[in-house]
Amino acid sequence: MEPQVKAFFDDATNTISYVVRDPAGSACAIIDSVLDFDYASGRTDTRSADEIIEYVQSEGLEVQWLLESHVHADHLSAAPYIQERVGGKIGIGDRIRIVQDTFGKVFNEGTEFQRDGSQFDKLFQEGDSFHIGQLRGDVLHTPGHTPACLTYVIGDAAFVGDTLFMPDFGTARCDFPGGSSETLYNSIQKILALPDETRIFVGHDYKAPGRDDYAWETTVGEQKARNIHVGNGRDKDGFVKMRDERDATLAMPKLIIPSLQVNMRAGQMPPADDQGDVFLKVPVNKL
Ligand SMILES: [Fe+2]
Repeated sequence: MEPQVKAFFDDATNTISYVVRDPAGSACAIIDSVLDFDYASGRTDTRSADEIIEYVQSEGLEVQWLLESHVHADHLSAAPYIQERVGGKIGIGDRIRIVQDTFGKVFNEGTEFQRDGSQFDKLFQEGDSFHIGQLRGDVLHTPGHTPACLTYVIGDAAFVGDTLFMPDFGTARCDFPGGSSETLYNSIQKILALPDETRIFVGHDYKAPGRDDYAWETTVGEQKARNIHVGNGRDKDGFVKMRDERDATLAMPKLIIPSLQVNMRAGQMPPADDQGDVFLKVPVNKL
């Protein structure tokens, strides 16, 4: 089955969100939505999420799932905001518990912050399947960028999150806490073992040098032939050396501090204080 896929590109964070739709009905899933956040003012904005909600409503779609490929470090998830308006169950990988444990410590969260993934409606494991109407989705655990990263294979389309990017840009960084370039290489081999014609939808695009437009759709065959980091039979040692050297030069994403605190709570802000005010923390010299 070939799902219909509608992409939404967020300029501020280079994130691509997707609405994946059962061609035989009105069921859909929303993958990796974005809540706009201006760090300088501490203000949220729902412009990006509202665009998705408007699309879903104008097409008369029934939202069954709000899927997260991982705990993003570069943007805040809009899953709870979208869920409140159009429904759907929020899903993520069950290794989220590891991520919650790691960042629960970094942000010195108290015991009220549960590290059991219970903030999410569904925790997926490797090999799990689910349905979007008549469409079947299969879950691949593809860690490396983070310990909990998933790839959702839905019909002939694979939503790979931050593993592979477009062939001319390569792969995702592996230097966040719990990341591993060796693990990412192994995960990518799982994705590349899918049929060559499998459509691949990436989680970010940054326009590779020499490319004029953003792009987010490719295929397994194209990745195998041309991915600049792992294509053409690149071996694990070569990849690990390249990836680790490159990661050592990268700055932290602008929104990593608010993103982690919100996304490890399934997109919810930390609890309000007794005045009803909400605050995010800035850990000093921890990241
Ligand atoms: Fe990411």
